[in-house]
Amino acid sequence: MNRRESGPDGRGGGEGRPRRSVTRAAFLLVSLVMVLTVSGCTSGIDGLNAVTDRGRDNLWLMNLSFILSFIVMAIVFGVLLYSIVTFRNRLPSEREGFVKLEIFWTVTPALLLVVLFVLAVRTMNSIEAEHGADEDVVTIKAIGNQWWWAFEYPELGITTANELHIPTDRPVRIELESTDVIHSFWVPQLGWKLDMIPGRTNVMNFTVDTAGTYDGACTEFCGAQHAWMRLKVVASPNADFTAWSAREAADATSPSSLIARDGESTFMLESCAACHTVKGTAAQGKVGPDLTHFGSRETIGAGVLENTPENLEAWLRDPQAYKPGIVMPGFDRLSDEQIRALVEYLEGLK
Ligand code: CUA
Repeated sequence: MNRRESGPDGRGGGEGRPRRSVTRAAFLLVSLVMVLTVSGCTSGIDGLNAVTDRGRDNLWLMNLSFILSFIVMAIVFGVLLYSIVTFRNRLPSEREGFVKLEIFWTVTPALLLVVLFVLAVRTMNSIEAEHGADEDVVTIKAIGNQWWWAFEYPELGITTANELHIPTDRPVRIELESTDVIHSFWVPQLGWKLDMIPGRTNVMNFTVDTAGTYDGACTEFCGAQHAWMRLKVVASPNADFTAWSAREAADATSPSSLIARDGESTFMLESCAACHTVKGTAAQGKVGPDLTHFGSRETIGAGVLENTPENLEAWLRDPQAYKPGIVMPGFDRLSDEQIRALVEYLEGLK
């Protein structure tokens, strides 16, 4: 027991003190406001507006934990402030064992933990539940690669990359795998995240009820370009999804112009075809993303660049300048005509 005696003059004296504590309070207040404002900045990734039932269940649990924690914090800080103010200049009279109070502060947190534990287990079970066998489920295999996503729709004969198209109001089952290291599939508006582990399949089941485009990212550090392993989920009504999947399952459109045809031969003769697949052509490489419908994608390099002809040209010349460490080499040795023809060909793959 270490009790500090208070001298007759107290410890709270000094003329400058009140002003200094006002300055400090103001500083704290400003910092708090700044933290709250800055943390409200939007990054395009939205964690507070789930578009699935399961996601909303999860969010509800998070909000409940937040509210309970806030109440506990308010009580603790209230008692603390009360004590500071009341006993600013005198010590409280010592009292042995206040049994009721001790029971209160032992039982309350224990009860809160039990309640949150039971609710957490219940939410985990409902999130992990499989869809019914009679439901019209869309199954998609999502494969993590350093540093991009492959999406395969085995029943529809589709392989695409970095943009996941799904129907709304129809159950979706995503089987998560990885070809190299551990990645984590996270699209906050779907409601939760799940790791992609080599040699293992993790399953995520959900039904999206709101059409829209939802941003996601890898959230398990997976190497130098982890931060540029982004994805987009495009959820559209089932009719639109069916139209999309019919287009996507088809072979690549043949080049429509002479220059695009030149681009196609460059693609096949250079190493491009060894790494990328373009369905309906000799290009059957499996190292990089399937490019059969590359022209219809919004981004290049899993989100690092917007998909425009100018950006694609820069990317083909030196992808390492945008995503250092990726497998794809630069093609600066090709002539300007060859690069432009490649761009024309690739952007034409709608
Ligand atoms: Cu993949 Cu981080």
